[in-house]
Amino acid sequence: ELIEGAEYPIEKHVLTTTDGYILKLHRIRPNATFRGTVLLMPGLFSTAADFVVTGPENGLAFVLADAGYDVWLANVRGSRFSRKNIKLSVADSEFWDFSFHEIGTIDLPAIIDYILRETNAPKLYYVGHNQGMTNLFALLSAKPRYNRKIHHAIGLATFGYLGTTDNRVVRRAAELTDKLYSTLKALNIHELKPTPDIVRLMSGIVCSSDMNELCVEMLRGFFGSTVDRSRNLLPAMVDDLLTSVSTRQLIHIGQLMQTKKFQQFDYRNYMLNTQKYGQAKPPEYNLSRVLLPVSLFHGTKDFITSAKDALRLKDELRNVKNFLEIPDLNHIGFVYSDRLYARVNRKIIEIFNQHPKA
Ligand SMILES: *[C@@H]1O[C@H](CO)[C@@H](O)[C@H](O)[C@H]1NC(C)=O
Ligand SMILES: *[C@@H]1O[C@H](CO)[C@@H](O)[C@H](O)[C@H]1NC(C)=O
Repeated sequence: ELIEGAEYPIEKHVLTTTDGYILKLHRIRPNATFRGTVLLMPGLFSTAADFVVTGPENGLAFVLADAGYDVWLANVRGSRFSRKNIKLSVADSEFWDFSFHEIGTIDLPAIIDYILRETNAPKLYYVGHNQGMTNLFALLSAKPRYNRKIHHAIGLATFGYLGTTDNRVVRRAAELTDKLYSTLKALNIHELKPTPDIVRLMSGIVCSSDMNELCVEMLRGFFGSTVDRSRNLLPAMVDDLLTSVSTRQLIHIGQLMQTKKFQQFDYRNYMLNTQKYGQAKPPEYNLSRVLLPVSLFHGTKDFITSAKDALRLKDELRNVKNFLEIPDLNHIGFVYSDRLYARVNRKIIEIFNQHPKA
């Protein structure tokens, strides 16, 4: 609706993964001479709507289409547009038995192969916001042949290594990971819906790090024109923009913070880990298998990924072309900030234009 409201034509596509999840893709065709095919992967709690919510002047999907890119927007398993499986229902705990690892190693290759088949393109460009880039690292670590299917990948507020943020609320939440995991398991809770209460909590995390106009700006971008009005708008906006995640996704991220390692999910159970991985400890992702050109954008006010975490990731990757620090931008600023075109999206287009398709 956001896309049609902006009077850009939209196409809907549907595909099924090898494990039966039915995923919806949205496509906006290029609005100028064709330059390439781009896949946009949203982050945690998000859908394709992230890339259009700031409107035709700023939204990444729109400005890429205007620059000649054939834009594909992904919606991963469990999210609003992808809540079906040929065998499982969302009420089954098994439906939610995934983290960013499965999204990366099962959804992502299915999406990439579908797009390359539909467009007859040999390769695509890639942009991932937070988890959207982590997915790609998980894929390349498991299936390095996918390096050959991507020209250049851009990560916005990417996380791999975590655990050195100054944000006290985030640190405290990470400390509680194990407790939360056992509690949610005991209560049989597998899906986390972003209710207004959870969103208020998340806004609390953002605003505790910068109690200033940035926080207000974020709330404004997030919830409507003024913070006050947003209190009433909150339920509707949450309903429109945010989407469920599996509890395992959040627990996995909590584990990355606790261990400061970029590794697979820890079942905290010798038998289960051994069954799954053939070893007692979860394996670390092998970033030396990420060979394609990568550019990373880091907001200096990121409350999840600290500058230290971001630099560690940059140093581990072999082929980083650009590392851009964006002043005053926080983790979700890459989605909701105003002037997003000038601050971020213009640079994305420049990078892709400089790395023309082979
Ligand atoms: C792209 O399409 C939109 C909506 O149809 C239009 O308003 C806009 O001017 C177009 N942009 C370019 C660069 O052609
Ligand atoms: C990581 O991948 C590289 C390249 O495939 C390989 O040579 C290396 O042994 C791997 N490291 C680990 C710890 O598996």
